Amino acid sequence: MPRPFYVTTPIYYPNDAPHIGHAYTSVAADALARWRRMWGDDVVFLTGTDEHGTKIQRAAEAQGVTPIELVDRTSAQFRALTPLLDLTNTDFIRTTEPRHEQAVQRFLQAVYDAGSIELGTYEGLYCVACEAYYTEDELVDGRCPVHGTPVELVTEENYFFALSRFEQRLLEHYESHPEAVQPTTRRNEVLGFIRQGLTDFSMSRKSVTWGIPLPWDPSQTCYVWFDALFNYCSAIGYGSDPERFDRYWPVDYHLVGKDILRFHAVYWPAMLMAAGLEPPQCVFAHGWLLVGGEKMSKTRMNQIAPADLVADFGVDGFRYHFLRDQRFGPDGDISYEAMVTRYNADLANNFGNLANRVLNMAVRYCGGVVPEARDDGPLAAAAERAFTGLTAEMEKLDFAGGFGAVWDLIRDVNAHLEERQPWTLEKQGDAGAAAAAAVLGDCLEALRIVALLASPVIPRAAAELWHRLGLPGDPAEARLPGAAEWGGLPAGAPLEKGEPLFPRIET
Ligand code: MSP
Repeated sequence: MPRPFYVTTPIYYPNDAPHIGHAYTSVAADALARWRRMWGDDVVFLTGTDEHGTKIQRAAEAQGVTPIELVDRTSAQFRALTPLLDLTNTDFIRTTEPRHEQAVQRFLQAVYDAGSIELGTYEGLYCVACEAYYTEDELVDGRCPVHGTPVELVTEENYFFALSRFEQRLLEHYESHPEAVQPTTRRNEVLGFIRQGLTDFSMSRKSVTWGIPLPWDPSQTCYVWFDALFNYCSAIGYGSDPERFDRYWPVDYHLVGKDILRFHAVYWPAMLMAAGLEPPQCVFAHGWLLVGGEKMSKTRMNQIAPADLVADFGVDGFRYHFLRDQRFGPDGDISYEAMVTRYNADLANNFGNLANRVLNMAVRYCGGVVPEARDDGPLAAAAERAFTGLTAEMEKLDFAGGFGAVWDLIRDVNAHLEERQPWTLEKQGDAGAAAAAAVLGDCLEALRIVALLASPVIPRAAAELWHRLGLPGDPAEARLPGAAEWGGLPAGAPLEKGEPLFPRIET
């Protein structure tokens, strides 16, 4: 029975078109999902859109349409990221779907029945863009610390979630599960926040009509974050398919931006505990993609559409940049020039040229098929290092480090060619030709492993290289660890030269 593996992205606010900040999390989740599938896991990879609340209600009003008209249109743009970026999500959830609304109502009732929701009066400073309250000292110059926009004073009678009661349990949970929030700096941040003391938060709104009604008091709607977080459970059958729910819950990884860490690592596990459900196994918070040092946002008008970069760099080039050039953890500045440089160096030169050189020589010197001969020289060890390196880094979600190990193998193959010079050997009689074939046999075998290990990040080029090596199917269908063992390339398979895998980009 394959191991279940469940990974999620945040569900995005469709008040706006998707930008590369959204695409970033989705591509990372996709690389992880692809990687786990190669290990034979039964992967659920969920993404979707967060469609209730004031933010959407106001965006719809501003455009003179109803909220559902707005989200029907804009949610589709997020769904379109899947074919655009070669994402392999197995589901796409919208919080306006009946399956979600029903699950949320069941969950709300369970938490209410357990006594963790009570009526109270709330007065607070609210940022509509964040859909969150802030205390006076969290504001920056009296404005929202994330958006820099004015906050609103809101007073309401509504229901409160008894977060304060979960302080101790959360601390105990994080003490006994140090891996549950990553990276460590984020874990410390979460622990610090909990230790300061938790206050109950209002989980319903009277004034917001665009939301899920509370089952016991339909005059109020559920606070959008309370509703949104539950998507992770409703998508896998909470309340409707208990067997499926038990199979995938608790989730393996919630990938989130650092701005929504508190919701995922404090509120969410407490909400789950209140309903007798297990907290997530890991919330991993990544940094922001910055443009000229600033976070992308609608107000700053510095958003970059994923399709624009895909047009210039291709899907693989796009994915490679975000997984290799950006560290998955800290903030990272994005620059077009740096993207071009990295693309040309790593993809056009190192990966693409190497594949072309080796295939060209093998076609010329070895009669167009994979030679029998092998040296089983230093490349076997280099391939082993790449595999163990990638495996270790993927455990930490260090994509840059992991795929870096694969590009180290590419560098080693290039160096091996320079050292052994099959083009010189080939001219040195029968013994030379045999030696050249053995060098090329090793290089082709190493290329097979490169294609295999690079396939979660550059799936198209990896599949094409796989095909040119005469291998059937797709590297994504190969199974680890066996497929990464040295010697898997069958002799006699037909080789193909083909066009450059990554044409250089001239600026
Ligand atoms: N709807 C909520 C999430 C609910 S999850 C139950 C939300 N949506 S969002 O569309 O505003 O943001 C979704 C994700 O995109 C967040 O993880 C956020 O950090 C990420 N990003 C938005 N802008 C970003 C960058 N500039 N850089 C990297 N990630 C960014 O929050």
